[in-house]
Formats: sequence, structure tokens, C-alpha cells
Amino acid sequence: MKRYVVCQTHELPPGTRRIVDIDGRSIGVFNVDGEYYALRNTCPHQGAALCTGSLLGEVRSPCPGEYRYDGSRKLLQCPWHGWEFDLTTGQSWFDPARTRVRPYDVTVESGRSIAAGREGVVPGPYVAETLPVTVDDDYIVVTP
Ligand code: FES
Repeated sequence: MKRYVVCQTHELPPGTRRIVDIDGRSIGVFNVDGEYYALRNTCPHQGAALCTGSLLGEVRSPCPGEYRYDGSRKLLQCPWHGWEFDLTTGQSWFDPARTRVRPYDVTVESGRSIAAGREGVVPGPYVAETLPVTVDDDYIVVTP
């Protein structure tokens, strides 16, 4: 399975997002309070750039005149017509049985593990001189 390095963690601080192109697909990567999420940047309604929309919590009303805001729910609102999708699963909340956006796995990995993760590569007969390299920061990696 291919993995794609997006950036270093300090380049995507909490409350920010970055839209990247991975294999011809536009994907939005979000940092929400230190948790990372990635969604396809295409709304299933009419194709808007979904990941440019607003991040919202959930508002519930147990009875008329009473409203409760739940900021723990993470909903992404499409900028064109306001459809909302769960940031963690891509699930829509107006038609959850049929409409969703593809979510992607996001991990934080050390530069050392990324450099070491070359599975399936067979060593050749020649060896060049190597020099020590240190990696200080972690990288954000998307696995489509
Ligand atoms: S294009 Fe996203 S809600 Fe219409």
C-alpha cells in the first residue's frame, strides 16, 4: 500500500488544513486539536471543493427554544450548498445511508521510519559511502 508524506507536523498546526494532490486526487488533510483527518476534496453532491468548507460542531435541540452545541463532533460543511459530512468517517448527515465522502488514514511517523520503510526493495551489488543523517521532526503521512 502506498503512503504519501504530506508535510512535517509543525507545518500543519492545530486548527489548520492543507489540500494536497495525491495521484491526481485532491485530498484535504486537517489538524483538529492535534488529531489528523483526511478526506477527498470533492463533494458528492455537485463536486465542490469540500475541504475548503467550514468545520462545525453539532447543534441539537431537545425541545423548542433549547439548543445544545456539541463541539466534540467534527462536521465539515460544503461551501456550496451546506451539506455536512463527519470529518472522521466522511459520512453525510442528511442521507447517511447513501452519501459519504471517502476518508483516508492519516498517521504521524518519524522521518527515520519513513526512510526505513522501503518494503519489497532488493539490494543491489554496489554500496556507496554513507554518512549519518538525523531526523528531528515527525511527518504527516496519508495512506490512500
Ligand atoms: S456541491 Fe456540496 S452541497 Fe452541493
